[in-house]
Amino acid sequence: MVKIIDVKHLTKAYGTHLNQTKVLDNLSFSVDKGEFVGIMGPSGAGKTTLMNILSSISLPTMGSVYIGGQDITRLKEKELSDFRRKKIGFIFQDFNLLDTLTTKDNILLPLAIDKLPIEEMENRVKRVAELLGISYLMDRYPDELSVGQKQRVAAGRAMVVQPEVIFADEPTGSLDSKSAAELLRYLAELNLHQETTILMVTHDPFTASYCNRILFIKDGVFFAEVVRRGSRKEFFEQVIDMQATIGGGGRTNAF
Ligand SMILES: Nc1ncnc2c1ncn2[C@@H]1O[C@H](COP(=O)(O)OP(=O)(O)O)[C@@H](O)[C@H]1O
Ligand SMILES: [Mg+2]
Repeated sequence: MVKIIDVKHLTKAYGTHLNQTKVLDNLSFSVDKGEFVGIMGPSGAGKTTLMNILSSISLPTMGSVYIGGQDITRLKEKELSDFRRKKIGFIFQDFNLLDTLTTKDNILLPLAIDKLPIEEMENRVKRVAELLGISYLMDRYPDELSVGQKQRVAAGRAMVVQPEVIFADEPTGSLDSKSAAELLRYLAELNLHQETTILMVTHDPFTASYCNRILFIKDGVFFAEVVRRGSRKEFFEQVIDMQATIGGGGRTNAF
């Protein structure tokens, strides 16, 4: 197995020297290429802080983050922008779509920066739109889309660069259960067929049940790990049990 994400002794502290809070405390873990890993834990556990460091949005106080063999905490500006553009895709809860661009242009945006040949760009957008069932929305602007549609456009923008890793922070957080299930099926498909590694934060056991493995964090340290062995339903039950142990609930009636 190839380790695509390798996190070593990661610590993130906020505040001054005298009044410091450690949000992440000496976390180490790795993710193999092609895994679909969930991160769960109560609100304030440090999940978003962790995702922001892994996706190079913020720097740790101590420790290292290897992604595809590169320590991304030590990249220079130019290498960092290459890394963000080519290696990773993000899906965030609040979408981050540009209001003045159509669906098509929002999805194209990361490719346009790279100046790919027009034909290649068109083909990629077409494939992603078909996969996500949004081909008929290509000329609409974000304010003409439902929440579920916006989320799929945001997913399309993350997928179109064909990243090695997709980071998703509560990607189903503002979706109804039908749209959530659809988005999760696309992610699962991408994971299965393109071997895209996915790291996804969620508080929802139903969403989590699409993963192969869940890491539970609490107060900035690892609390437990649950690995899927049987059906998704069984995994869902395991996740709920672990959540009850750790505290910090979620939806329990999804199946
Ligand atoms: N920029 C910041 N400055 C100070 N404290 C922060 C900052 N960002 C997050 N925190 C604190 O770090 C803790 C973890 O936050 P976060 O990573 O957002 O948790 P989660 O996503 O698990 O709910 C919280 O107590 C939060 O208040
Ligand atoms: Mg968060």
